[in-house]
Amino acid sequence: MARKQIAAGNWKMNTTISEGVELAQAIASAQRSDQTLTILGVPFTHIYPLQKKIKASSKILLAAQNCHHLKSGAYTGEISPTMLAAMKVPYVILGHSERREYNHEDNALLSLKLRAALDSGLKVIFCCGEALDIRKSGEHISYVKSQLAASIFHLSAQEMKNIVIAYEPIWAIGTGETASPAQAQEMHEAIRKMLLKQFGKRVAENTSILYGGSVKASNAKEIFGQPDVDGGLVGGASLNAAEFVQIINAF
Ligand code: 13P
Repeated sequence: MARKQIAAGNWKMNTTISEGVELAQAIASAQRSDQTLTILGVPFTHIYPLQKKIKASSKILLAAQNCHHLKSGAYTGEISPTMLAAMKVPYVILGHSERREYNHEDNALLSLKLRAALDSGLKVIFCCGEALDIRKSGEHISYVKSQLAASIFHLSAQEMKNIVIAYEPIWAIGTGETASPAQAQEMHEAIRKMLLKQFGKRVAENTSILYGGSVKASNAKEIFGQPDVDGGLVGGASLNAAEFVQIINAF
């Protein structure tokens, strides 16, 4: 199987630079397998200091948590994908439910962001996932399909090499409630089938699909053990170095 196992942290709007450097150094220095890709999604302010302080040999890769859909212009306070690519940040997280909700990012805007990010040479961790009412109505798979159809189905198989999908059910984010391993597997398998239909076998087999939503050291092994779960996008538990290292080692 060619797809990567990925333990990704999403620090969200947490840590000062010095706290972030301490956290990343503790994660970098811990013993862990070389097979797993570790990605830290950090605030923009932390990217440069972390690049200076974290040894390249630690194999930790950084992700930005957002970018604008244009390369430059009169958009006060925004960060463009060109700026991130020029800093050699390999990944950007797009489509997180918090940005969809609090910043009103819809599928159409996310499609533009995705295009701009890929055109700038960034790899994208693209998030999808349903709210509780949709889960309860039993429409969760068709809802996620509509999110992916609007944003990634039009990409080429070549471009899909630069996409990681993160399935993050909104009802499990920051709530302490986790999707059961069976619920995660059901959705991940459904997403992989969508990829198979849309792009063919190679893309379906090679695209990493991460689960996000209250992943902890105590549940990571069981969730990551599902055949179509290739790792996690971890919020709260990624802010504790010892716990996140256990998650990295849960594969
Ligand atoms: P928690 O792990 O805190 O539930 O957050 C998940 C998440 O949103 C990762 O992007």
